[in-house]
Amino acid sequence: MSITVLGISGSPRRHGNTETLLDRFLEGAASTGGVVNKVVLKDLHYRSCQGCNACHKTGVCVLTDDFTPLFEEIRTADVLALSSPIYSMGITAELKALIDRAQVYWAQKFVLKTLYFDYEHIKRHKGVFISTAGQNWDHVFNGAFPIVTAFFNDMGFEYRDNVIANNMDEYGGIRGHPTALDAAYKKGRMVVKEVIAFGDAPVTTKD
Ligand SMILES: Cc1cc2nc3c(=O)[nH]c(=O)nc-3n(C[C@H](O)[C@H](O)[C@H](O)COP(=O)(O)O)c2cc1C
Repeated sequence: MSITVLGISGSPRRHGNTETLLDRFLEGAASTGGVVNKVVLKDLHYRSCQGCNACHKTGVCVLTDDFTPLFEEIRTADVLALSSPIYSMGITAELKALIDRAQVYWAQKFVLKTLYFDYEHIKRHKGVFISTAGQNWDHVFNGAFPIVTAFFNDMGFEYRDNVIANNMDEYGGIRGHPTALDAAYKKGRMVVKEVIAFGDAPVTTKD
């Protein structure tokens, strides 16, 4: 059974603190058999949600762009690692744009009631949030957590864990952090092992 692991990089800065942490997570996931892919949002062409609410009636987004195939990839991933640095106490515009575009799945679930993920499905689909922040505040990630929770819920993933590292300003970047890169690698391994251990449970969605 191959476990697909999709890493989404929401940082506009290539190979910065957050993408480096994501890469380490993906290396850990690959080391235990995960089939890994990384998508960098800043390289994609997309529009933000128009708030037209057409999806509430049709279950389909009116926009077709690079997010369209990305959502298909998200829906077939076993593990989804969402990453974003903290910008202005929240996530980046890039990741927020993706999450807002998931409104179509919210509409399918809660308005049209055509989409349903059962317990087994959610337990074998793991979501991990990866983030870094400059400040030395324990609560600096608190603005991001509810947004990520909403996305994992809409997409049928269990919000399994965080890989977060603050105080980047003092450490001089992620490579100066004493534990974060190691922790990311270990969590990448852990999550893939958990999905393997869960087995090939049947997936039920209502059409
Ligand atoms: C526009 C902008 C806003 C930021 N806002 C915050 C913030 O509110 N709190 C914080 O702790 N760090 C903030 N930072 C610092 C970044 O979160 C931090 O440097 C992070 O590690 C950058 O990740 P990256 O290298 O992946 O871009 C901000 C940085 C930028 C560029």
